[in-house]
This record gives sequence, structure tokens and C-alpha cells, in this order.
Amino acid sequence: MDILSQIDRTKVPKHVAIIMDGNGRWAKKQGMARIFGHKNGLKAVRESLEAAGEIGTKAVTLYAFSTENWNRPKLEVDALMSLLVQSLKKELPTFQKNDIKVNAIGRLSQLPEKALKVLNDIIDVTKTNSSLTLTLSLSYGSREEIVNAVKNISKKVVNNEISVEEIDENIINNHLYTFSLPDVDLLIRTSGEQRISNFLLWQIAYAELHFTNVLWPDFRRDDFYKAVVEYQNRERRFGKTSEQIENLNDKN
Ligand code: IPE
Ligand code: IPE
Ligand code: MG
Repeated sequence: MDILSQIDRTKVPKHVAIIMDGNGRWAKKQGMARIFGHKNGLKAVRESLEAAGEIGTKAVTLYAFSTENWNRPKLEVDALMSLLVQSLKKELPTFQKNDIKVNAIGRLSQLPEKALKVLNDIIDVTKTNSSLTLTLSLSYGSREEIVNAVKNISKKVVNNEISVEEIDENIINNHLYTFSLPDVDLLIRTSGEQRISNFLLWQIAYAELHFTNVLWPDFRRDDFYKAVVEYQNRERRFGKTSEQIENLNDKN
């Protein structure tokens, strides 16, 4: 049976987040420079988006560049930034054809002016698309996001727009860069590393985690489906007992 037919269309993850890792190692394996690996990651992005669209996942969030990645050699950082500009331009017809709305999270003001402009243009051009929201995490760090949220909430308290007592999970959620997105259901990390690397710490509180040894440039549609099948075979209990979950399923 092919893997796509194993997917239960009534239990599709709404929001899938991906830590696209292993580009450098992929390139090294073939004796190439790291940037060659980054370039070859684009096909994996395309296939993941197609796979998500096919099964009805509404949101895909990709970790493209972290706040810590600024510490890489300047040559690599510069190459990544120009690759971002090129890829965004190149993929625009695909975003339009597949009704993909592009969104971005992170300390975006740190991006080079050119990249920021192309990014904002694409966000604007695709803003009425609605089949899938693609969120690019750029200069993103979850701790930075939380610091930013705390600052903005504090300003509102100082200005008497909200009281300290009113601060709850909802308010914090609404001040994160991801305010418009649902919680992450499934987090995928490629390349065999099993860590979060400062990605969506708040938003993955109850996500199912899927780690695969596949290096990002080799990640294909079926690898995405494999992660979804594994996700569907997990029992998401959200703190309840297995019996409670079974009773709930019986009622549906
Ligand atoms: C992920 O691949 C892409 C970015 C972090 C930009 P890496 O560049 O981290 O590849 P490895 O982990 O060194 O193989
Ligand atoms: C995480 O990968 C960031 C992105 C995929 C953009 P890294 O390769 O930077 O993470 P670490 O350093 O191995 O934790
Ligand atoms: Mg890496």
C-alpha cells in the first residue's frame, strides 16, 4: 500500500513545523561547499509544501535561519541571504498556483534590506491566498520572540491598556510572532539531530516530535507522509488518561 493511502484524512495535523537540517553535511558528503547543500534544499521545501497541500494541512512553518545562525562565517550568511532572495522570486508562481499565503516570523528588521523588501512584497502579493499558510522563520529565535512579547505586554501594562491580572496564556500567545497560527501539531527535524535549537518553544508545548536521519536536501514527499503516519499512530493525551481519550473517540 502506498504511504499516502495510509493517511487518515480526518486526523491530519493542522500545523506542521520543520527544522530543515543537514544541508552542510549533505554537501560535504559529495565534496561540495556548504552552500551547495542549501541550494539543494529548495526541492525538499517544494515537495513538503505539495505534500502538505495534498493532505489538507493548513499551516507549514519552516526554520530557515535562526538568531544563532548569524554567528556562522560571513560568506555562508551572505550566501544564505542571497539564496533567500532568489528562491522567493523563483517560487512566487508556485505560491500563486497552489494558493499559498506567505508569512514570516523572527527579528525581520535584521535581514538585509534587499531580502526584507522581496519578502514583504511576496507577503503582500500572496496575502489573499488561503489554502495553506507558509511561515518562514528568519532570524528567528524562540527566546528572542518571548523577550519581544514580554516587552510589548509590559508597555501595555505601563500604559494601562491591560492589567497584570489580565495576563494569561492567550495574551502571551497573541504577542508572539506566531499569533495568527494554531499550536504546532507535528514538529519534524531532519539530519538525525534530536534537539529543538531555539525553535517555537511555546508553540510546541504539546506537539508530537518526529526525528529522521534523512538530510534535508534528500527529504521528499513520502518522508513528509511518513512523519504524518507516525503522528497519526500516536495517542495525543494532553494530560488525560488513555481511557478518557478512548471514551471520547467512542462518542465521535
Ligand atoms: C540547515 O542545514 C540550514 C540552516 C541552518 C540554515 P545546516 O547548514 O545546519 O547543515 P548541517 O547541520 O551543518 O549539516
Ligand atoms: C537549526 O539548525 C536552525 C535551522 C534549521 C535554520 P542548526 O544547524 O543551526 O542547529 P544546531 O546548531 O545544530 O543546534
Ligand atoms: Mg545544522
